[in-house]
Amino acid sequence: MTTADSAKQTLAQLGVDSPEKVSSLFGGMRGFFDSAVSASEADWKALRDSWLGRKSGVLSLVTDNWLKPASPELKRVVGQELNKLKAHVEAVLEQKRLEIEAAAERAAQAREHIDLSLPGVERPLGTRHIIRQTYEELERIFLSIGFSVVQGPEIESPYYNFEALNIPEHHPARDNMDTFYIEGTRGRRLLRTHTSPMQIRTMEKQPPPVRIIVPGKVYRRDNPDATHSYMFHQIEGLAVDTDITFCDFKGTVEYFVREFLGPKAKTRLRPSYFPFTEPSAEVDATCHVCGGSGCRVCKFSGWIELFGAGMVDPAVYGFVKYDAEKLSGFAFGMGVDRLAMMKYGVSELPVLCQNDVRFLRQFP
Ligand code: PHE
Repeated sequence: MTTADSAKQTLAQLGVDSPEKVSSLFGGMRGFFDSAVSASEADWKALRDSWLGRKSGVLSLVTDNWLKPASPELKRVVGQELNKLKAHVEAVLEQKRLEIEAAAERAAQAREHIDLSLPGVERPLGTRHIIRQTYEELERIFLSIGFSVVQGPEIESPYYNFEALNIPEHHPARDNMDTFYIEGTRGRRLLRTHTSPMQIRTMEKQPPPVRIIVPGKVYRRDNPDATHSYMFHQIEGLAVDTDITFCDFKGTVEYFVREFLGPKAKTRLRPSYFPFTEPSAEVDATCHVCGGSGCRVCKFSGWIELFGAGMVDPAVYGFVKYDAEKLSGFAFGMGVDRLAMMKYGVSELPVLCQNDVRFLRQFP
């Protein structure tokens, strides 16, 4: 069989001594090239060098070893055969090169092809949760009458959550049935049960006047049901100045109720009790469903309980070194989940925290 090695020998060494044998020798060489071509499409460069390489390419060897030393009778036919072989090798290699390039081009096109008729990647937009929406509404109302927003820690000390709010050691609100204490802190850290600790932290930090609201999460050891959860949302309010009266308190509360529930909503204050306000009140509004005539939602009373509030108890000023003789103020604490449920007609508390998109989608 003819291989590249035969190009290293002369015609005489190969025993080629007639034009016929020259032709068949070249035919063998061509067959050898053709078999290499089909096998080595990927190694096109290596194939080209091994055949056309100037120094040790097969065609150079054939020129040096077959053509140059050929006898005068054979030289012509060797020259012709060599030219034919060379033309064949070059043509085939060029053909191969075009094929490889075209294949690469096709692959690149397939990779880069953009089918504009395909549906795009859908990225559904989220919406603001109704708790968030309610907070924003509450903040809008109070910002419009000069309050500013502050936030505080959810992990509190008993001092801020209870003591400084005039809730003594053995007050039932401190029961560890109602409160989550942080393990390993020996009762020195707890999850705040209301946003009222920020009343104290704010007054400690700044001199009067104070007009703040405090949005945030609070925690209680309640068993979850349709209206209770271990975590819920409050917004605290506190206004302290030298000349704040019960009328200011009532006027602010009425303004808020009309802004939040509509201009027809009426307000009612019911006596209540909180250790840190005196007097204390529950703020009721006319039922948003029946407008006050009585229905199932308001249990046929015409009123809905909104939140707790009152005038700041002078004892509280003692804890923050405010002058109880000169200062007065009011405070309130609203359950935001309740307000959101009222406003959006939601009857169950748990759905607010379950992140079910079928629920969330209803409040774009
Ligand atoms: N902190 C009280 C509660 O969580 C609400 C409240 C705040 C009442 C401020 C009066 C004044 O129940």
